[in-house]
Amino acid sequence: MIAVDLAGDTDFAGFRNTARRLAAHGVKPADVVWRTGRETGDLFGSTEALPPPTVAETEVKVPRAFVPLAEAVICHSAPERLSLLYQILYRFRIEPKLLEIASDPDVTAARRMEKAVGRDVHKMHAFVRFRELATPEGPHFIAFFEPEHFIEERASGFFVRRFAPMRWSVLTPRLSLHWDLESLTVGPGARREDAPSEDATEDLWRTYFSHIFNPARLKVKAMTAEMPKKYWRNLPEATVIGDLIAGAEARVAAMIAAAPTAPPAHHERLQARGGDRMAAGIVGPQAIDEIGQTAGIGLAGIRAEADGCRRCALWAGATQTVFGEGPERAEVVFVGEQPGDREDLAGRPFVGPAGQVFDEAIEEAGIDRTLAYVTNAVKHFKNEPRGKRRIHKKPNGAEIEACRWWLAQELTVIKPKLIVGLGGTALQSLLDRPVKITEIRGKFMDFDDGPSVFATVHPSYLLRLPDPEMKARERQRFVDDLKLVAERIRAMG
Ligand code: URA
Repeated sequence: MIAVDLAGDTDFAGFRNTARRLAAHGVKPADVVWRTGRETGDLFGSTEALPPPTVAETEVKVPRAFVPLAEAVICHSAPERLSLLYQILYRFRIEPKLLEIASDPDVTAARRMEKAVGRDVHKMHAFVRFRELATPEGPHFIAFFEPEHFIEERASGFFVRRFAPMRWSVLTPRLSLHWDLESLTVGPGARREDAPSEDATEDLWRTYFSHIFNPARLKVKAMTAEMPKKYWRNLPEATVIGDLIAGAEARVAAMIAAAPTAPPAHHERLQARGGDRMAAGIVGPQAIDEIGQTAGIGLAGIRAEADGCRRCALWAGATQTVFGEGPERAEVVFVGEQPGDREDLAGRPFVGPAGQVFDEAIEEAGIDRTLAYVTNAVKHFKNEPRGKRRIHKKPNGAEIEACRWWLAQELTVIKPKLIVGLGGTALQSLLDRPVKITEIRGKFMDFDDGPSVFATVHPSYLLRLPDPEMKARERQRFVDDLKLVAERIRAMG
């Protein structure tokens, strides 16, 4: 029996070099024991030394696809992963197409491990929650996480890319990752108590989660499978999950019952109230600004934070963050896709050609823009330079997701009664799923414990229509949609 001592759980280079040597010497898988330092006791009795290096090592051929598979499998926590990998590598000598036989038990086992590792990496990306710690060098963000497999280094690139301008550490029982704005270092494992437990960031996470929670998508079984309870301990939003699940069915029933609806016009009540806001169709008291109170920053503070946003890469190609604008107590929020070229330069939403279509249409529908809050799902202009021009590019799912952080905060502070999603990107962000505008257009989606959402097209859709007749027809449909919004605003009073 030959014992191979690797330098650690995921010492891929050590495994690869030794496995090649063993295979070159024809050492059978059953005659090798792989050790990573986790083994207790002397399970294998006396062992022989490794055979000496041989030039034949370089002749051991493995298919190209084996390398990424082995790099993933080595991160699995099952002790047998190394013998499995060596078994596959050994078999390549006479079965070079082994990986193509999906039903082969060794290949199946390796693929299953690869998948489990991928899932664990995904969970680490999704469920790591940083807590802020004040240090003499500035804020340091610390998270504690317990992965199922040895995936910390494999998952680390995502955090480096996503949080490059922050100092952060991710602590796990096996090791810790530290980013100092320049390089990533790996330190010893840590305990949950080593990470700070509570701070104001927690409230932001809780609010964010409540906002993105869409009852129509709720399948408790799938949700607990995706977000297993063992992760809940580290998640601030876990404290609201119970309430959200409890209210979900009623919210779905309300959504179904209410789509589509034409709200009753409460003319008499409106007549009795009078006033400019009523004339504009935007009336009623405002709720208290919760996040603004908790974090003490309000919309202006959130806007200032968003100025330096690096949650995705879009900032790099844009002039500035284009935050929403309008009254902090607006009852209606309009959400567009992302700033265009003109908005990017002006730093204000909907001031370019699409903004002009929007302004004219809402005015015709009887809505006063100055009383509404107007914002975008994505706050940076995504574009592709072409000569002197910058061509608009549609934001992708990850960019929409990253920016939903800011939209959720705007909505939490404003607490509108109604949100109008203009086009697919806005509605994808608001409903947390890709949507077909044709299926939900002109409908109010009502929720028991949150603002109603109304779906219509984006004004730039009208700009793109080449046929003047069709353009006129579609513009009228857009104005008609907005008239439903104006009517609902009046009825909300
Ligand atoms: N399109 C949008 O979605 N938003 C703007 O601010 C401008 C154009």
